[in-house]
Amino acid sequence: MSERVSTTTRGGQATTGLGEPTTAPGPLRIETVVVPADLDAPEAWAVHGTVLVSEAVDTQVYGHTDLSLDAGTVVGTVASGDYRRTVRRVAVADGAAPGSPARPEDVVGRSMVSLPLEGSTHVALVHVAVHPEHRRCGVGTALWDDALALARDAGRSVVQGDSSFAPEPSPGPDALEAPTGSGRVPRDAAATRFVLGRGFTLEQVQRHSTLGLPVPAERLDPLRAAATERAADYRVHVWTDDVPEEWLDQLAVLETRMSTDAPSAGLEIEEDPWDAQRVRTTLQDVHDRGQGFVVAAAEHVPTGSLAGFSMVSLPHDKPEVVYQEDTLVLREHRGRSLGMLVKVAVVDELARSRPAARRVHTWNAQENAHMLAINVALGFAPASVDAEWQLRLDPPA
Ligand SMILES: CC(C)(COP(=O)(O)OP(=O)(O)OC[C@H]1O[C@@H](n2cnc3c(N)ncnc32)[C@H](O)[C@@H]1OP(=O)(O)O)[C@@H](O)C(=O)NCCC(=O)NCCS
Repeated sequence: MSERVSTTTRGGQATTGLGEPTTAPGPLRIETVVVPADLDAPEAWAVHGTVLVSEAVDTQVYGHTDLSLDAGTVVGTVASGDYRRTVRRVAVADGAAPGSPARPEDVVGRSMVSLPLEGSTHVALVHVAVHPEHRRCGVGTALWDDALALARDAGRSVVQGDSSFAPEPSPGPDALEAPTGSGRVPRDAAATRFVLGRGFTLEQVQRHSTLGLPVPAERLDPLRAAATERAADYRVHVWTDDVPEEWLDQLAVLETRMSTDAPSAGLEIEEDPWDAQRVRTTLQDVHDRGQGFVVAAAEHVPTGSLAGFSMVSLPHDKPEVVYQEDTLVLREHRGRSLGMLVKVAVVDELARSRPAARRVHTWNAQENAHMLAINVALGFAPASVDAEWQLRLDPPA
């Protein structure tokens, strides 16, 4: 999946079967991405280099850059450190001394190590990506060794990462099956070989789907009518770019449940505790990285409590693109079409306030039948798959 850090962290792009060594880079140096004074400042070169590599890799995998990192997200993830510490590095092959500035075009690879400071504090999320023109020259290995050292130094015992493939391969000897029984990735792809060679195991496959906007009324109207009828005890709130203070505590409960209730297969994930301040900080982070958002939440009217929600983020520099973030209905409120109700409310709000939006991207565990059924009914179509990899680190000797 494209590595866009949101309320949950996403990461990675990959490609199938490229094979031959390409341009051998010169002597390699690995530099840390720093928060620049602004995006035109000389030290912003590594931010822009990270974006260029992300776009080059995505273009190869998906044929578009909808999911690529933008400069605001790169800076935002490095800068915001209340709930996770994120270290980004770049590999440069310009022959200059360590610490020298470089041109963004000279960045041949990038890495990210993201360390949760709450919840799964034993985990390091790692992503390594190499520009397609500089593969099979050891750049990925150098970035991986560096990232692994960071994860170990931070005392993490589990490394998780992911990589994307389009399309999902057919069943057969060339496909690696998820242990959940749902989803496949290509066995011979560069990313698969790279991570398996480092001891990772495949734990889960996520389906990436896209929904074309606007959704035709003849599809949406019956879905809205049926969900509204079944959810008679509920009222939908829609919040754009701001959430009223009085709902933050309840939204925090829903976000906390998100960390335990979404299927995670064999991935070691602990409950991630949220409170009102964390919701506030996270929404501010979305704003600071140059995105708007829409939240639709279902209130159970008799008790005044939130039963479910769905959120999307809207990158201002890509008005036609929408990223689906978290969607959850509390267990005790399931079976009343609330998932459909809140998702339809988001689509309605996009039609009203974001008419330029043309596609929503979403990711769901392939075994998450209920969520996938809602998305398929709305019109989401499969676009690619993400492998979720995991590596348990041996304790230091
Ligand atoms: C995976 C990736 C990072 C590898 O980068 P790289 O610079 O080409 O990696 P290296 O040159 O260090 O290769 C290391 C080893 O990985 C394996 N490997 C990498 N690409 C391979 C390919 N196309 N075919 C077979 N094996 C491959 C080989 O064992 C290779 O060692 P070798 O060249 O000595 O045979 C790169 O393909 C990439 O950016 N993919 C997209 C992003 C992604 O999915 N990242 C992985 C998830 S975190």
